[in-house]
Amino acid sequence: MSKVIAIEGGYKLNGTVRISGAKNATVALIPAAVLADGPVEILGVPEISDVEALAILLRELNCDVSIKGDSIRLDPSQMEDIPLVSDAVNKLRASYYFMGALLGKYKRVKIKMPGGCYLGPRPIDLHLKGFKALGANITYDEVEETYLLEADELVGHSIYLDFASVGATINILLAAVKAKGRTIIENAAKEPEIIDVTNLLTKMGAHIRGVGTDTITIDGVEHLHGTFHEIIPDRIEAGTFLIIAAAAGEKVIVQNVIPQHLEALISKLKEMGVQMDVVGDSIIVYGPQKPLKPVHVKTQIYPGFATDLQQPLTTLLTQADGKSSVKETIYIERFLHCEQLNKMGAHIDVDRASSAIYGPTKLHGARVQATDLRCGAALIIAGLIGEGKTEIMNVYHIDRGYDNIDQKLITLGAHITRYEIDA
Ligand code: EPZ
Repeated sequence: MSKVIAIEGGYKLNGTVRISGAKNATVALIPAAVLADGPVEILGVPEISDVEALAILLRELNCDVSIKGDSIRLDPSQMEDIPLVSDAVNKLRASYYFMGALLGKYKRVKIKMPGGCYLGPRPIDLHLKGFKALGANITYDEVEETYLLEADELVGHSIYLDFASVGATINILLAAVKAKGRTIIENAAKEPEIIDVTNLLTKMGAHIRGVGTDTITIDGVEHLHGTFHEIIPDRIEAGTFLIIAAAAGEKVIVQNVIPQHLEALISKLKEMGVQMDVVGDSIIVYGPQKPLKPVHVKTQIYPGFATDLQQPLTTLLTQADGKSSVKETIYIERFLHCEQLNKMGAHIDVDRASSAIYGPTKLHGARVQATDLRCGAALIIAGLIGEGKTEIMNVYHIDRGYDNIDQKLITLGAHITRYEIDA
Protein backbone atom coordinates (compact mmCIF):
# COMPACT_ATOMS: atom_id res chain seq x y z
CA MET A 1 0.00 0.00 0.00
CA SER A 2 1.17 3.53 -0.74
CA LYS A 3 -0.11 6.73 0.84
CA VAL A 4 -1.23 9.34 -1.68
CA ILE A 5 -2.12 13.02 -1.55
CA ALA A 6 -4.77 13.71 -4.20
CA ILE A 7 -5.48 17.26 -5.40
CA GLU A 8 -8.35 18.50 -7.59
CA GLY A 9 -6.78 21.48 -9.38
CA GLY A 10 -8.20 24.87 -10.35
CA TYR A 11 -9.59 26.14 -7.03
CA LYS A 12 -8.46 29.64 -6.01
CA LEU A 13 -6.97 29.97 -2.50
CA ASN A 14 -7.98 32.67 -0.02
CA GLY A 15 -7.46 33.24 3.70
CA THR A 16 -4.69 33.03 6.30
CA VAL A 17 -2.08 30.35 6.90
CA ARG A 18 0.17 30.29 9.99
CA ILE A 19 3.73 29.05 9.46
CA SER A 20 5.09 26.43 11.87
CA GLY A 21 8.48 26.23 13.59
CA ALA A 22 11.55 25.71 11.42
CA LYS A 23 12.24 22.04 10.60
CA ASN A 24 15.93 22.68 9.97
CA ALA A 25 16.29 24.39 13.33
CA THR A 26 14.19 21.78 15.18
CA VAL A 27 16.25 18.80 14.02
CA ALA A 28 19.38 20.48 15.42
CA LEU A 29 17.83 22.01 18.58
CA ILE A 30 16.64 18.62 19.86
CA PRO A 31 20.11 16.97 19.73
CA ALA A 32 21.66 20.20 21.09
CA ALA A 33 19.37 20.01 24.14
CA VAL A 34 21.00 16.76 25.32
CA LEU A 35 24.14 18.76 26.17
CA ALA A 36 22.23 20.27 29.13
CA ASP A 37 22.52 18.77 32.65
CA GLY A 38 18.84 19.57 33.28
CA PRO A 39 15.45 19.82 31.52
CA VAL A 40 15.08 21.79 28.28
CA GLU A 41 11.68 22.87 26.97
CA ILE A 42 11.32 23.85 23.32
CA LEU A 43 8.18 25.57 21.99
CA GLY A 44 6.99 25.94 18.41
CA VAL A 45 7.96 22.40 17.40
CA PRO A 46 6.45 21.51 14.01
CA GLU A 47 4.32 18.35 13.75
CA ILE A 48 6.61 16.44 11.35
CA SER A 49 7.85 12.88 11.26
CA ASP A 50 11.49 13.97 11.71
CA VAL A 51 10.57 15.03 15.27
CA GLU A 52 9.03 11.61 15.98
CA ALA A 53 12.22 9.93 14.72
CA LEU A 54 14.38 12.12 16.96
CA ALA A 55 12.18 11.34 19.98
CA ILE A 56 12.77 7.62 19.36
CA LEU A 57 16.54 8.20 19.36
CA LEU A 58 16.35 10.26 22.56
CA ARG A 59 14.43 7.48 24.33
CA GLU A 60 17.09 4.99 23.14
CA LEU A 61 19.57 7.19 25.03
CA ASN A 62 17.32 6.99 28.10
CA CYS A 63 16.57 10.68 27.81
CA ASP A 64 13.14 11.53 29.19
CA VAL A 65 11.04 13.06 26.38
CA SER A 66 7.48 14.35 26.35
CA ILE A 67 5.74 16.02 23.42
CA LYS A 68 2.56 18.02 24.05
CA GLY A 69 1.16 19.87 21.02
CA ASP A 70 3.97 22.07 19.71
CA SER A 71 6.11 21.74 22.82
CA ILE A 72 8.82 19.15 23.54
CA ARG A 73 10.40 18.69 26.98
CA LEU A 74 13.63 16.76 27.33
CA ASP A 75 15.34 15.81 30.57
CA PRO A 76 18.86 14.50 29.82
CA SER A 77 19.81 14.11 33.52
CA GLN A 78 19.45 10.27 33.41
CA MET A 79 20.82 9.87 29.87
CA GLU A 80 23.29 7.09 29.04
CA ASP A 81 26.03 6.80 26.43
CA ILE A 82 24.39 4.14 24.22
CA PRO A 83 25.25 3.41 20.57
CA LEU A 84 22.70 4.88 18.15
CA VAL A 85 22.36 2.05 15.67
CA SER A 86 18.58 1.52 15.29
CA ASP A 87 16.64 2.08 12.07
CA ALA A 88 15.38 5.40 13.47
CA VAL A 89 18.82 6.85 12.68
CA ASN A 90 18.22 6.27 8.99
CA LYS A 91 14.92 8.13 8.97
CA LEU A 92 16.62 11.50 8.78
CA ARG A 93 20.02 12.80 7.75
CA ALA A 94 19.97 15.27 10.65
CA SER A 95 20.43 12.39 13.12
CA TYR A 96 24.10 13.13 12.52
CA TYR A 97 23.74 16.08 14.93
CA PHE A 98 23.93 13.46 17.67
CA MET A 99 27.58 12.97 16.59
CA GLY A 100 28.50 16.46 17.73
CA ALA A 101 26.13 16.50 20.70
CA LEU A 102 27.18 13.13 22.17
CA LEU A 103 30.88 13.73 21.41
CA GLY A 104 30.52 17.03 23.23
CA LYS A 105 28.66 15.42 26.14
CA TYR A 106 30.46 12.07 26.57
CA LYS A 107 33.63 12.54 24.44
CA ARG A 108 32.48 9.38 22.71
CA VAL A 109 29.70 8.38 20.29
CA LYS A 110 28.86 5.36 18.16
CA ILE A 111 26.27 6.06 15.45
CA LYS A 112 24.96 4.60 12.21
CA MET A 113 25.58 6.50 8.92
CA PRO A 114 22.68 9.02 8.49
CA GLY A 115 19.87 8.68 5.91
CA GLY A 116 17.67 11.48 4.45
CA CYS A 117 16.54 12.67 0.98
CA TYR A 118 18.67 11.71 -2.04
CA LEU A 119 19.95 15.04 -3.36
CA GLY A 120 23.16 13.77 -4.86
CA PRO A 121 26.38 13.10 -2.95
CA ARG A 122 25.99 14.32 0.64
CA PRO A 123 29.34 13.65 2.39
CA ILE A 124 30.05 14.52 6.00
CA ASP A 125 33.79 15.03 5.51
CA LEU A 126 33.68 18.59 6.90
CA HIS A 127 31.86 17.43 10.04
CA LEU A 128 34.57 14.80 10.60
CA LYS A 129 37.34 17.31 9.84
CA GLY A 130 35.98 19.46 12.68
CA PHE A 131 35.68 16.60 15.15
CA LYS A 132 39.26 15.45 14.35
CA ALA A 133 40.56 19.01 14.87
CA LEU A 134 38.99 18.97 18.35
CA GLY A 135 40.84 15.76 19.21
CA ALA A 136 38.43 12.97 18.26
CA ASN A 137 39.70 9.68 16.88
CA ILE A 138 37.26 8.48 14.19
CA THR A 139 36.81 4.92 12.91
CA TYR A 140 34.17 3.67 10.44
CA ASP A 141 32.92 0.07 10.52
CA GLU A 142 32.07 -0.87 6.91
CA VAL A 143 30.02 -3.89 7.98
CA GLU A 144 27.90 -2.21 10.66
CA GLU A 145 27.95 1.11 8.71
CA THR A 146 28.70 2.87 11.97
CA TYR A 147 31.04 5.65 13.01
CA LEU A 148 32.88 5.50 16.35
CA LEU A 149 34.22 8.85 17.61
CA GLU A 150 36.32 8.92 20.78
CA ALA A 151 38.47 11.59 22.47
CA ASP A 152 40.45 11.56 25.72
CA GLU A 153 39.59 15.20 25.84
CA LEU A 154 38.23 17.80 23.40
CA VAL A 155 40.50 20.82 22.95
CA GLY A 156 39.48 23.98 21.10
CA HIS A 157 41.05 24.51 17.66
CA SER A 158 40.72 26.64 14.52
CA ILE A 159 38.70 24.89 11.81
CA TYR A 160 38.34 26.13 8.22
CA LEU A 161 35.27 24.82 6.35
CA ASP A 162 36.12 24.27 2.67
CA PHE A 163 32.39 24.81 2.01
CA ALA A 164 30.10 26.89 4.27
CA SER A 165 28.20 23.77 5.29
CA VAL A 166 25.12 24.25 7.51
CA GLY A 167 25.39 20.78 9.02
CA ALA A 168 29.11 20.92 9.63
CA THR A 169 28.86 24.38 11.23
CA ILE A 170 26.17 23.21 13.66
CA ASN A 171 27.78 19.84 14.39
CA ILE A 172 31.15 21.42 15.21
CA LEU A 173 29.38 23.96 17.44
CA LEU A 174 27.79 21.08 19.37
CA ALA A 175 31.15 19.35 19.91
CA ALA A 176 33.00 22.58 20.78
CA VAL A 177 30.75 24.20 23.42
CA LYS A 178 32.21 22.01 26.20
CA ALA A 179 35.71 21.58 24.71
CA LYS A 180 38.70 22.99 26.61
CA GLY A 181 39.64 26.44 25.35
CA ARG A 182 38.75 28.33 22.18
CA THR A 183 37.42 26.98 18.88
CA ILE A 184 37.19 29.20 15.80
CA ILE A 185 35.07 28.06 12.84
CA GLU A 186 36.13 29.90 9.69
CA ASN A 187 34.00 30.10 6.54
CA ALA A 188 31.04 29.13 8.73
CA ALA A 189 27.51 28.98 7.31
CA LYS A 190 25.16 31.86 8.27
CA GLU A 191 21.69 30.30 7.96
CA PRO A 192 19.09 31.58 10.49
CA GLU A 193 18.70 28.05 11.85
CA ILE A 194 22.34 28.16 13.00
CA ILE A 195 21.61 31.38 14.89
CA ASP A 196 18.58 29.72 16.48
CA VAL A 197 20.65 26.75 17.70
CA THR A 198 23.30 29.16 19.03
CA ASN A 199 20.59 31.07 20.90
CA LEU A 200 19.56 27.86 22.65
CA LEU A 201 23.17 26.92 23.50
CA THR A 202 23.87 30.44 24.81
CA LYS A 203 20.78 30.26 27.05
CA MET A 204 22.18 26.92 28.31
CA GLY A 205 25.39 28.75 29.29
CA ALA A 206 27.60 28.34 26.23
CA HIS A 207 30.01 31.14 25.19
CA ILE A 208 29.60 31.69 21.44
CA ARG A 209 30.29 34.85 19.41
CA GLY A 210 30.07 35.79 15.73
CA VAL A 211 27.25 33.45 14.68
CA GLY A 212 25.63 34.79 11.51
CA THR A 213 29.03 35.87 10.21
CA ASP A 214 31.59 33.59 8.55
CA THR A 215 33.72 33.37 11.71
CA ILE A 216 32.29 31.85 14.87
CA THR A 217 34.26 31.79 18.16
CA ILE A 218 33.38 29.31 20.89
CA ASP A 219 34.97 29.32 24.37
CA GLY A 220 34.28 25.96 26.00
CA VAL A 221 32.52 25.71 29.39
CA GLU A 222 32.30 22.91 31.97
CA HIS A 223 28.55 22.74 32.35
CA LEU A 224 25.43 23.60 30.38
CA HIS A 225 22.09 23.92 32.22
CA GLY A 226 18.47 23.47 31.24
CA THR A 227 16.45 26.31 29.71
CA PHE A 228 13.43 27.24 27.61
CA HIS A 229 13.44 28.11 23.89
CA GLU A 230 10.99 29.05 21.14
CA ILE A 231 11.86 28.00 17.58
CA ILE A 232 12.01 30.54 14.73
CA PRO A 233 9.40 30.23 11.97
CA ASP A 234 10.21 27.92 9.07
CA ARG A 235 11.47 30.17 6.25
CA ILE A 236 11.26 27.33 3.74
CA GLU A 237 7.64 26.52 4.61
CA ALA A 238 6.89 30.26 4.47
CA GLY A 239 8.59 30.54 1.08
CA THR A 240 6.67 27.52 -0.15
CA PHE A 241 3.37 29.19 0.81
CA LEU A 242 4.37 32.48 -0.85
CA ILE A 243 4.92 30.51 -4.05
CA ILE A 244 1.66 28.57 -3.60
CA ALA A 245 -0.22 31.85 -3.15
CA ALA A 246 1.48 33.41 -6.19
CA ALA A 247 0.48 30.39 -8.27
CA ALA A 248 -3.01 29.54 -7.01
CA GLY A 249 -4.12 32.32 -4.66
CA GLU A 250 -6.43 35.29 -4.93
CA LYS A 251 -5.49 36.88 -1.57
CA VAL A 252 -3.49 34.81 0.93
CA ILE A 253 -2.03 36.06 4.22
CA VAL A 254 1.07 34.10 5.26
CA GLN A 255 1.48 34.67 9.02
CA ASN A 256 4.37 34.08 11.46
CA VAL A 257 7.15 34.96 9.03
CA ILE A 258 10.52 36.71 9.47
CA PRO A 259 10.59 38.57 6.10
CA GLN A 260 14.34 39.22 6.36
CA HIS A 261 14.88 35.42 6.11
CA LEU A 262 13.18 35.43 2.69
CA GLU A 263 14.73 38.44 0.98
CA ALA A 264 16.15 36.49 -1.96
CA LEU A 265 12.83 34.76 -2.73
CA ILE A 266 10.74 37.92 -2.22
CA SER A 267 13.05 39.76 -4.61
CA LYS A 268 12.66 37.04 -7.27
CA LEU A 269 8.86 36.91 -6.88
CA LYS A 270 8.71 40.71 -7.28
CA GLU A 271 10.92 40.40 -10.37
CA MET A 272 8.29 37.98 -11.74
CA GLY A 273 5.59 40.57 -11.10
CA VAL A 274 3.98 38.90 -8.06
CA GLN A 275 2.04 41.45 -5.96
CA MET A 276 2.93 41.22 -2.23
CA ASP A 277 2.66 43.39 0.89
CA VAL A 278 4.95 42.81 3.86
CA VAL A 279 3.08 43.77 7.06
CA GLY A 280 5.11 43.04 10.22
CA ASP A 281 5.40 39.26 10.58
CA SER A 282 2.88 38.61 7.79
CA ILE A 283 3.14 38.72 4.03
CA ILE A 284 0.00 39.23 1.94
CA VAL A 285 0.21 37.70 -1.54
CA TYR A 286 -2.21 38.56 -4.35
CA GLY A 287 -2.60 35.85 -6.96
CA PRO A 288 -1.77 36.23 -10.62
CA GLN A 289 -3.43 39.29 -12.20
CA LYS A 290 -1.15 39.52 -15.26
CA PRO A 291 1.30 37.16 -16.96
CA LEU A 292 4.30 36.36 -14.77
CA LYS A 293 7.74 37.32 -16.05
CA PRO A 294 10.46 34.66 -16.43
CA VAL A 295 13.51 34.92 -14.14
CA HIS A 296 16.90 33.32 -13.68
CA VAL A 297 17.72 31.79 -10.31
CA LYS A 298 21.07 30.67 -8.95
CA THR A 299 21.05 28.90 -5.58
CA GLN A 300 23.57 30.19 -3.04
CA ILE A 301 24.39 29.79 0.63
CA TYR A 302 22.42 32.09 2.93
CA PRO A 303 21.47 34.89 2.42
CA GLY A 304 21.44 33.93 -1.26
CA PHE A 305 18.56 32.09 -2.92
CA ALA A 306 17.83 28.94 -0.87
CA THR A 307 18.36 25.63 -2.66
CA ASP A 308 15.30 24.27 -0.80
CA LEU A 309 13.07 26.80 -2.60
CA GLN A 310 14.26 26.28 -6.17
CA GLN A 311 12.09 23.18 -6.53
CA PRO A 312 8.75 24.79 -5.50
CA LEU A 313 9.65 27.93 -7.49
CA THR A 314 10.24 25.78 -10.59
CA THR A 315 6.51 25.00 -10.65
CA LEU A 316 5.66 28.72 -10.62
CA LEU A 317 8.21 29.30 -13.39
CA THR A 318 6.27 26.90 -15.64
CA GLN A 319 3.57 29.62 -15.64
CA ALA A 320 5.91 32.51 -16.53
CA ASP A 321 5.71 33.97 -20.03
CA GLY A 322 9.08 32.95 -21.47
CA LYS A 323 12.24 31.00 -20.63
CA SER A 324 13.42 30.86 -17.01
CA SER A 325 16.39 29.00 -15.58
CA VAL A 326 17.59 27.53 -12.30
CA LYS A 327 21.29 26.92 -11.59
CA GLU A 328 22.18 24.79 -8.57
CA THR A 329 25.47 25.49 -6.80
CA ILE A 330 24.61 23.58 -3.59
CA TYR A 331 23.12 20.22 -4.69
CA ILE A 332 23.97 19.69 -8.34
CA GLU A 333 21.54 16.77 -8.76
CA ARG A 334 18.50 18.44 -7.17
CA PHE A 335 16.35 18.22 -10.32
CA LEU A 336 14.31 15.03 -9.93
CA HIS A 337 11.13 17.15 -9.66
CA CYS A 338 11.51 18.30 -13.30
CA GLU A 339 10.69 14.90 -14.81
CA GLN A 340 7.60 14.68 -12.59
CA LEU A 341 6.49 18.20 -13.59
CA ASN A 342 7.00 17.35 -17.26
CA LYS A 343 4.57 14.43 -16.77
CA MET A 344 2.01 17.13 -15.84
CA GLY A 345 2.59 19.14 -19.01
CA ALA A 346 5.57 21.31 -18.08
CA HIS A 347 8.42 21.85 -20.54
CA ILE A 348 11.64 21.71 -18.55
CA ASP A 349 15.08 20.70 -19.84
CA VAL A 350 17.73 19.65 -17.32
CA ASP A 351 21.40 19.82 -18.22
CA ARG A 352 24.13 19.16 -15.64
CA ALA A 353 23.42 21.45 -12.64
CA SER A 354 20.87 23.63 -14.43
CA SER A 355 17.29 23.57 -15.68
CA ALA A 356 15.58 25.61 -18.40
CA ILE A 357 11.86 26.14 -17.85
CA TYR A 358 9.76 27.20 -20.89
CA GLY A 359 6.41 28.81 -20.11
CA PRO A 360 3.60 29.34 -19.85
CA THR A 361 2.53 25.68 -20.05
CA LYS A 362 -0.91 24.36 -19.15
CA LEU A 363 -0.47 21.74 -16.43
CA HIS A 364 -2.79 18.75 -16.08
CA GLY A 365 -3.31 16.18 -13.33
CA ALA A 366 -1.27 12.94 -13.29
CA ARG A 367 0.01 10.27 -10.91
CA VAL A 368 3.49 11.52 -9.90
CA GLN A 369 6.22 10.58 -7.42
CA ALA A 370 7.51 12.79 -4.63
CA THR A 371 11.21 11.93 -4.94
CA ASP A 372 12.21 14.14 -2.00
CA LEU A 373 10.73 16.65 0.41
CA ARG A 374 10.84 19.78 -1.74
CA CYS A 375 9.94 17.87 -4.92
CA GLY A 376 6.77 16.95 -3.02
CA ALA A 377 6.09 20.66 -2.47
CA ALA A 378 6.67 21.42 -6.15
CA LEU A 379 4.15 18.72 -7.13
CA ILE A 380 1.55 19.98 -4.64
CA ILE A 381 1.75 23.41 -6.30
CA ALA A 382 1.45 21.81 -9.75
CA GLY A 383 -1.59 19.84 -8.55
CA LEU A 384 -3.23 23.02 -7.22
CA ILE A 385 -2.96 24.79 -10.61
CA GLY A 386 -3.18 21.76 -12.92
CA GLU A 387 -6.43 20.78 -14.61
CA GLY A 388 -8.09 17.72 -13.10
CA LYS A 389 -6.80 15.31 -10.45
CA THR A 390 -3.17 14.85 -9.38
CA GLU A 391 -2.07 11.93 -7.22
CA ILE A 392 1.26 12.40 -5.41
CA MET A 393 2.89 9.16 -4.23
CA ASN A 394 5.50 8.74 -1.45
CA VAL A 395 3.90 11.37 0.75
CA TYR A 396 6.22 10.31 3.61
CA HIS A 397 8.78 12.66 2.05
CA ILE A 398 6.35 15.56 2.43
CA ASP A 399 5.35 14.63 5.99
CA ARG A 400 9.02 14.63 7.04
CA GLY A 401 9.25 18.38 6.64
CA TYR A 402 5.88 20.06 6.21
CA ASP A 403 3.53 20.33 9.23
CA ASN A 404 0.04 19.26 8.00
CA ILE A 405 0.47 21.02 4.66
CA ASP A 406 -2.72 19.49 3.23
CA GLN A 407 -4.83 20.67 6.20
CA LYS A 408 -3.38 24.17 5.84
CA LEU A 409 -4.23 24.17 2.11
CA ILE A 410 -7.77 22.84 2.69
CA THR A 411 -8.32 25.78 5.09
CA LEU A 412 -7.35 28.07 2.19
CA GLY A 413 -9.90 26.41 -0.10
CA ALA A 414 -7.89 23.66 -1.81
CA HIS A 415 -9.58 20.34 -2.66
CA ILE A 416 -7.16 17.79 -1.22
CA THR A 417 -7.64 14.27 0.12
CA ARG A 418 -5.36 11.55 1.41
CA TYR A 419 -5.84 7.86 0.81
CA GLU A 420 -3.94 4.60 0.27
CA ILE A 421 -3.60 2.74 -3.01
CA ASP A 422 -2.19 -0.61 -3.99
CA ALA A 423 1.04 0.40 -5.73
C1 EPZ B 1 20.95 21.66 5.34
O1 EPZ B 1 21.48 20.43 4.85
C2 EPZ B 1 19.45 21.50 5.23
N1 EPZ B 1 19.04 20.35 6.04
C3 EPZ B 1 19.04 21.28 3.78
O2 EPZ B 1 17.63 21.25 3.76
C4 EPZ B 1 19.53 22.47 2.96
O3 EPZ B 1 19.23 22.23 1.61
C5 EPZ B 1 21.05 22.62 3.14
O4 EPZ B 1 21.36 22.77 4.53
C6 EPZ B 1 21.61 23.82 2.38
O5 EPZ B 1 20.98 24.98 2.82
C7 EPZ B 1 18.95 20.50 7.37
O6 EPZ B 1 19.24 21.55 7.91
C8 EPZ B 1 18.49 19.29 8.15
P1 EPZ B 1 25.16 21.50 3.82
P2 EPZ B 1 23.05 20.09 5.08
O7 EPZ B 1 26.03 20.76 4.77
O8 EPZ B 1 23.48 20.62 6.40
C9 EPZ B 1 28.39 19.80 0.83
C10 EPZ B 1 15.52 20.41 3.25
O9 EPZ B 1 14.94 20.26 2.16
N2 EPZ B 1 29.01 19.21 2.02
O10 EPZ B 1 25.14 22.99 3.88
O11 EPZ B 1 23.27 18.68 4.76
C11 EPZ B 1 27.13 19.02 0.44
O12 EPZ B 1 27.49 17.91 -0.35
C12 EPZ B 1 16.97 20.03 3.37
O13 EPZ B 1 15.02 20.89 4.30
C13 EPZ B 1 30.27 18.63 1.91
O14 EPZ B 1 30.84 18.59 0.84
O15 EPZ B 1 23.68 21.00 3.92
C14 EPZ B 1 26.33 20.03 -0.32
O16 EPZ B 1 26.77 20.06 -1.67
C15 EPZ B 1 17.52 19.43 2.09
N3 EPZ B 1 30.84 18.07 3.01
C16 EPZ B 1 26.69 21.35 0.35
O17 EPZ B 1 27.90 21.10 1.10
C17 EPZ B 1 30.23 18.10 4.23
O18 EPZ B 1 30.81 17.59 5.21
C18 EPZ B 1 25.61 21.86 1.29
O19 EPZ B 1 25.53 20.98 2.34
C19 EPZ B 1 28.95 18.69 4.33
C20 EPZ B 1 28.37 19.26 3.22
